[in-house]
Amino acid sequence: MKAAVIHGFGKPDVFRYEDVEQPEPGSGEVVIKVAACGINRYDLYLRMGAIFEDITFPHILGADVAGAIAAVGPDVDDFKEQDAVIVAPGYPIDPGDWDIKPENLAPSFEVTGTHTWGGDAEYIRAPARFVIKDDTGLPAEQVAAMPLVLMTAVHAVQTLGQVGPGKRVLVQAGASGSGNACVQVARALGADVAATVGSEEKVETAKTAGAELVINYNEKDFADTILDWTDGVGVDVVIDNVGASVFEDNLKALRTAGTFVNFGLVGGIEAKLSIRNLFFRQHRLIGSFMGSTEEFKRGIKLLGEGKVKACVDKTYPLKDVAQAHQYIWSRAVKGKVVLIP
Ligand SMILES: NC(=O)c1ccc[n+]([C@@H]2O[C@H](COP(=O)([O-])OP(=O)(O)OC[C@H]3O[C@@H](n4cnc5c(N)ncnc54)[C@H](OP(=O)(O)O)[C@@H]3O)[C@@H](O)[C@H]2O)c1
Repeated sequence: MKAAVIHGFGKPDVFRYEDVEQPEPGSGEVVIKVAACGINRYDLYLRMGAIFEDITFPHILGADVAGAIAAVGPDVDDFKEQDAVIVAPGYPIDPGDWDIKPENLAPSFEVTGTHTWGGDAEYIRAPARFVIKDDTGLPAEQVAAMPLVLMTAVHAVQTLGQVGPGKRVLVQAGASGSGNACVQVARALGADVAATVGSEEKVETAKTAGAELVINYNEKDFADTILDWTDGVGVDVVIDNVGASVFEDNLKALRTAGTFVNFGLVGGIEAKLSIRNLFFRQHRLIGSFMGSTEEFKRGIKLLGEGKVKACVDKTYPLKDVAQAHQYIWSRAVKGKVVLIP
């Protein structure tokens, strides 16, 4: 099969579009013909060697797969050839961890395509228990845009942030792949949402996702704007995928006893925390990583019901994966980028 293969860490020019052996399903596994595979910024970090050093090469990235069952291994009863399916964007890779719930607390839980081959290929092999039927009726590129960001958004916004009707929520990077999904999930849960963006071109993307207030942080101080929006009180919940560069202002924009959920670090890793403010203002600070299989299914259900929509900025043929990674790295991307094998 053809695949976008990396033989080492590096810049986007490290990709080789080449032939590799097509996977065969083992016991409890299925092989899926990939119709579309979404890219996440995580893939860029993994390619650069910024997350794990112990990747075995050659390697194939790609966590967000929509496709159809091509082959079914022994002991798989739930699927037959041609079934439209979606692969869980993260699951425990050690079968010894498969009974741990929620799955994202299992020691071997990881993003799909980290230590196992991902979906930047014509075919992918996956354990059948972490594959679901695709009942959305949507085109594959729309489905493939959403699994990882929806699993993340349901976990961060609903489970950890406990966002619901009437809550006021600030989502950082509202036009990013993950931020956009968080805006949509918060809206679907009945919250009033504000979002930040870094340019005027991205304002409409965050608005379309459901943000009632969109702040271009290069034009206005976002924390002051949020305090104006909330009559000086601050938002109930901050959902943050940016990290250090906005950390102090995020807490300034958060109400007393509000909840701060972080799951990303594009703006830096190390932040300064005032312990005094932490307890005086009774803030809850929570770290979030991916989500459970149940949260992934809940996210896909929202997609199928049209309560959240795929925000696909561009699609690229799989052979142009390097250009697709460069586009995401440029920060011009609005929503998601998807590869078509
Ligand atoms: N823990 C988890 O479960 C989880 C899940 C998904 C994503 N993430 C993390 O969330 C972050 C965003 O991922 P994504 O896939 O949504 O990214 P993305 O679609 O590539 O969007 C990233 C956006 O962040 C904004 N940004 C702000 N400061 C930035 C900076 N210093 N450098 C680069 N971009 C900056 C930019 O938008 P503006 O121009 O509008 O500022 C940029 O377009 C990453 O750290 C990713 O690893 C974590």
